[in-house]
This record gives sequence, structure tokens and C-alpha cells, in this order.
Amino acid sequence: MIDMHSHILPGIDDGAKNLEVSLQLIEKNLRDGVRTICLTPHFNFEKQTIEQFLEERQKSYELLKTAVEEKGWNIQFILGAEVAFSTELADQSGVERLCYGNSKCMLVELPVTYLPKWTSEVLDELQVQGITPLLAHVERYSYFQSEPQKLYDLLEDGCYAQVNATSIVKHKNAQKLIFLLMKHGMVHCMGSDTHSLEKRPPMLKQAQEIVARKMGNEYVESLHKNGESLATKGKAKVGPIRPIRSVFGYFF
Ligand SMILES: [Fe+2]
Repeated sequence: MIDMHSHILPGIDDGAKNLEVSLQLIEKNLRDGVRTICLTPHFNFEKQTIEQFLEERQKSYELLKTAVEEKGWNIQFILGAEVAFSTELADQSGVERLCYGNSKCMLVELPVTYLPKWTSEVLDELQVQGITPLLAHVERYSYFQSEPQKLYDLLEDGCYAQVNATSIVKHKNAQKLIFLLMKHGMVHCMGSDTHSLEKRPPMLKQAQEIVARKMGNEYVESLHKNGESLATKGKAKVGPIRPIRSVFGYFF
């Protein structure tokens, strides 16, 4: 199992505040059967340069890697970032360094309450540079909740979609939206988006069990395969997406 989205690296963002917390989160993921964790701390163009971010991320990673080696844990890491959406994505050179590992796939976090009108232009520009945008936790944005067609349009343009395990396990409305999206081919992979054992703990195993009951084991397997493929090759072979229709506020 692969965790596509985590804030497990110690002391770098609002996730694990120290190494001890990082190790607790990894231990929980290991117990759940996760064998690859993508380390995706927040990156924001307004707060730091790409160079500063990469330097800090490397320091934090080395600390974690040494501790995990000492424990002898069988876990693989892929370094990445959760990149806050910005027009800088289209303007700055070297943004591909924010992608997962050596792939050309970037985890992009959109603004929570509004979708900037130039979103599709910026994401298109990324794709012109050969970078595949993976939209982080698509169930959390209010505009996709009220108008899933907006997500459809971005996926139709070549973006991929990630959902959070905690949304599936803990939040009824988010779970409802996720299943609607899944039935229309609009979810491609899962992540824990874990920050600590208190705030969004890793729960991919529970999420996987719920999804398997509704969508089948083969579907769950496809989520892991897509995730691995995106984080290592930057692309995934996924099925067709279908638009979601709405009548009197009901989606189907
Ligand atoms: Fe996140």
C-alpha cells in the first residue's frame, strides 16, 4: 500500500513536530500495511524559495532516514511536496523539483473556498512543461462539493485526483462525495494527509476496507497502482471519467 500524501517529515511544517511524532506515524502506517510513504510537506511560494524548501526538506529527511534505518523498518520513502496553488507555478523555472521523487507528478493544493479563474491556465501550463498535476484531497474544496463539474473539467484537462483516508472514515458528507466521484472515475489515489496521531492520524487501512466494501477489492488495488505509477513515473493508466449530473441539487 502507498500513502500518497503525508506531513510526516519532522519539524518542517504543521505536521509532525518532532522525530518522535514522525516515528509514531510511520509505525501506525506500517501496522496498516503501508510500505511506501510519500513525504509531502507544504510548500508555498509566498513563504519560501524552492531552494530553501529543498534544503530544509533534505535536512529533515536525513534525520528521519537515520532513525528509521536504526529501527530496521521495511518502509520506502518518496520525497515530494504539497504545493499551494499559485501563478508562480506557470512562471518560475525549476518547479519540477517539487514533484514526487524523480517523477514529473506534482501534488497541488487548491485554495479551500474559491477556485481562481486562472486555475485551468496555470495547470495547463504545468502540463506543457511535462508536469502532471495531482489535485490534493479533492473532497475538501467547497466549490467541488457544490459543483463537481468543476473537478470534472480539470480532470478532463489531464489532472488527477487524490482523496484523504480520514474523509472516508470520519466524515459522512465527504465520504458521500468521494463515492460519487469514485463511481464516475474521478478519484485516482488515496493518501493519509496525516499530521499527527491527534490531527488526521494515518488510517489508510480503515479507509481501504470501507472502499473495498462499496467498490470492490480490484478497485482498491487500482488506487494503489495508480498512486505508485504517479509517484514514480508521473503518469497512470486510468479508466474514463464521466460527468456528474445534477437535478434539484441531487447529484447522480
Ligand atoms: Fe496535506
